[in-house]
Amino acid sequence: MYNIRKIDNDLTFVGVNDRRLNLFENVHPLPQGVSYNSYVLRDEKNVLFDTVDWSCGRQFFENIEAALDGQELDYVVVHHAEPDHAATLDEILIRYPKARVLCSAKAKLFLEQFGHNVEDRVDVVKNGDTVSFGKHELTFIQAPMVHWPEVMVSFDATTGTLFSADAFGSFKTLDGVLFEDEIGGAEEVAWLNESRRYYTNIVGKYGKNVQMLLKKAAGLDIKMICPLHGVIWRKDIDRFIEKYQLWSTYTPEHLGVVIACGSMYGDTEQAADILANALVQRGVKRVRFFDVSKTHPSYVIAAIFRYSHLVIASPTYNLGIYPPVHNLINDIKNLNIQNRTVSVIENGSWAPKAGTLIENELDQNNLCFLGDRVTVKSSVNVDNRESIIALAQTIADDIYAKKN
Ligand code: FEO
Repeated sequence: MYNIRKIDNDLTFVGVNDRRLNLFENVHPLPQGVSYNSYVLRDEKNVLFDTVDWSCGRQFFENIEAALDGQELDYVVVHHAEPDHAATLDEILIRYPKARVLCSAKAKLFLEQFGHNVEDRVDVVKNGDTVSFGKHELTFIQAPMVHWPEVMVSFDATTGTLFSADAFGSFKTLDGVLFEDEIGGAEEVAWLNESRRYYTNIVGKYGKNVQMLLKKAAGLDIKMICPLHGVIWRKDIDRFIEKYQLWSTYTPEHLGVVIACGSMYGDTEQAADILANALVQRGVKRVRFFDVSKTHPSYVIAAIFRYSHLVIASPTYNLGIYPPVHNLINDIKNLNIQNRTVSVIENGSWAPKAGTLIENELDQNNLCFLGDRVTVKSSVNVDNRESIIALAQTIADDIYAKKN
């Protein structure tokens, strides 16, 4: 049975919730699921904006049928060819044989690479092209690498609606809510956390491209943002755009310390714990501690984007960096995280190497190292304890200096 919702007179939400997928892109945990958003515009010509993942096809096809209410579908706009949004395109083209696909040249190529049978059905659009469907006129705006190179967003000037593709999206299913102003109380924090985790891990690498899109968007009179995942933004758009400004320029939201700790037997953890205790006693308000063996890196990455300081604590393992810590460091490098102040605690019973390796690996990014590296040999001793307290003081002093 269909499950749709009117957004305004002409636009209907026909997207679906996926609560059964465990890992987004088979990488990132989805404890609260994800939505694949799609929209039907009814005008002289009827338009579908993107499709959804195959797993939710049945619900999706019923939704479109209900939204069209017996009318033909004339166009499918493909803003993004990734399968979570384009997998059901073939089936749509079979069900609606007159429908034409509007997409970028690169999206056409990607659709063909993914095996979609679209060759005779595509009208390629370029940056700045406009297409009129009747009273609604859509302008296409190139947004390469937000999050793939073929991505376009589009703007309906009649209603001030930006169809933003993956930009301004979020993990988390739409549990009855559709607009951000329908989220109540503590749920707002949950949405922001999942929006941040989505942005930082999925689009975070491409801050420069997001900046270019934000500059283009600044020239538009946007009244509503319809992304491909998560809630539609219409009331507090500026607040979310402000977050995007910070995230895409790798600017911390708050002064605070993320402690990313790996520990085999609890000794490195004890060193990191002493540091956390000393930081809080010195008045540092936001200290977030992660055991990287237990917490998926996507959560740690989101916290690193949020806060100004990072402490990495790692044992030496096979003369290298402890694997779960190394995994996180790879993500920090690959996501191009910059402008963070980093301190290091290492452990090694006979050949402590992790600290030097961590510093060398992160040296390529625009990160600044703070304080003397702490070296623990097996367990924390009196001398190490003093070094950890000294490091906490250095970090706290730096935070106070930046605050004032
Ligand atoms: Fe939601 Fe880049 O796909």
